[in-house]
Amino acid sequence: AKTFTIAIDGPAASGKGTLARRLAAHYGFHHLDTGLTYRAVAKALIDRGLPLDNEAIAAEMAQNLDLKHLDRKALATHDVGEAASKVAIMPAVRRALVAAQRAFAQTLPGTVLDGRDIGTVVCPDAPVKLYVTASAQARAKRRHAEILAGDGEADLAAILADLERRDARDMGRTDSPLKPADDAHLLDTTEMDIETAFLAAKRLVDEAL
Ligand code: C5P
Repeated sequence: AKTFTIAIDGPAASGKGTLARRLAAHYGFHHLDTGLTYRAVAKALIDRGLPLDNEAIAAEMAQNLDLKHLDRKALATHDVGEAASKVAIMPAVRRALVAAQRAFAQTLPGTVLDGRDIGTVVCPDAPVKLYVTASAQARAKRRHAEILAGDGEADLAAILADLERRDARDMGRTDSPLKPADDAHLLDTTEMDIETAFLAAKRLVDEAL
């Protein structure tokens, strides 16, 4: 039997994670949020007091990463996300994590992977590729609302500046920059709710299944 892979890419707070979880639940597929793998490497370095810019040390952390034990909650903080985008520029780190992600993508009966380079590098042969975007303003507003709902305090302008800095780092790096694959379907969620995005994605998957 052959597995079926849905590749989802896009910038931070575009809605790709929610969409990936919805699709995985609907089709009974396994889901991997690949951002968590970069976050886990960053957090392992921070917890040990190790530098974020030593490629050999970071690559060793990446090689020893166990995908089955990714603690979403511990990895969700803003600082870990920021550190993740720094370790993600190092080719040796990417090589190790991409190998683990590709192995995961083979799981039966199907998989959904979301990240920045799934359609371009990790799973270039995926039968369905989605590139989820939204304006920076809309993404910042969503992040802001999430933080307020969680009883936190947040400044919209600071969140917007942060997102734009992270986008620039992810799109500007040399190894596997964030960009849509040539054969990706673009899904702009600026004025779209999650249900509408899900139905649009489901239609594309159903056509390819
Ligand atoms: O999506 P998330 O915010 O969890 O990702 C954290 C960081 O990990 C991103 O900003 C990006 O630099 C990096 N990343 C990546 N490739 C992926 C997934 C995440 O470079 N496939």
